[in-house]
Amino acid sequence: MKTKYIIANWKENPENLEIATQLVKISKDFHNSNNSSPHIVITHAIPSIFAGFFINESKNMGEKTNIILQNISCFEGGSHTGEISALQAKNLGIEMSLVGHSETRLQPQNPKGDEDNQVNIKIKNLLKENMWACLCVGEYSRDENDSNTYESFLQTQLQNCLKDITLENFNRIIIAYEPVWAIGKGAIRSATNQEIIETIYFIKQCLRKMFGGNIPNLKILYGGSVNENNAQEILNLKNHDDIEVVDGLLVGRASCDPKLWTTFLSNLQ
Ligand code: PGA
Repeated sequence: MKTKYIIANWKENPENLEIATQLVKISKDFHNSNNSSPHIVITHAIPSIFAGFFINESKNMGEKTNIILQNISCFEGGSHTGEISALQAKNLGIEMSLVGHSETRLQPQNPKGDEDNQVNIKIKNLLKENMWACLCVGEYSRDENDSNTYESFLQTQLQNCLKDITLENFNRIIIAYEPVWAIGKGAIRSATNQEIIETIYFIKQCLRKMFGGNIPNLKILYGGSVNENNAQEILNLKNHDDIEVVDGLLVGRASCDPKLWTTFLSNLQ
């Protein structure tokens, strides 16, 4: 099995640093004890209030940090209350941020959220600092009888968010496909394996068209109701040519409760 990347997206969890420390320790113990761990790289997308603590801890232990941010500012610095710039994150030793997660995008319940052009600026800000971006894309609804609608939505999202990005820079971007209807407590249902396979194939086709052919090191993660029961199955998904489809997972709910996270990791082979 090739290396798989798992991003634990804590969102606005956990409620204190004690539990946060426990969660990171569970991941470290998994790395240290599990035979398959060389194939699985775990990163935690944490609330930024915890970042300094974990960065210092990694420095003291002489380890590479395994935390990333959940979002980054559109601005490069200055009078923007509440924002964190890519440069600030880089100077603290952070290498990557999620961008364009559906919960940070413009929606009726999030009127100040990002539109595609802001996600594009955020990616460029990260790239400017030689950082990595994990770009989340996903349709809000899916009509099984009308693939044109969600496919053209995804294509537009990819084109807008990756506008003016060169193939060379794209090497520092990971795509996370997260169908919004399958995410979080409000999920209508989980995506089927077939839906995941077909949509990731479609995303790869779009990206190949945009970047002109083969894309070395293209990484696409899947997220949306991934849990302790379906994670390994999703990681194992293969296409018609027997090639693994998913390069990793973006995990929300199952990653921010110590009990669930322990079970989640122990169920991975
Ligand atoms: P979920 O969230 O695993 O709780 O569905 C995934 C995400 O929003 O990244």
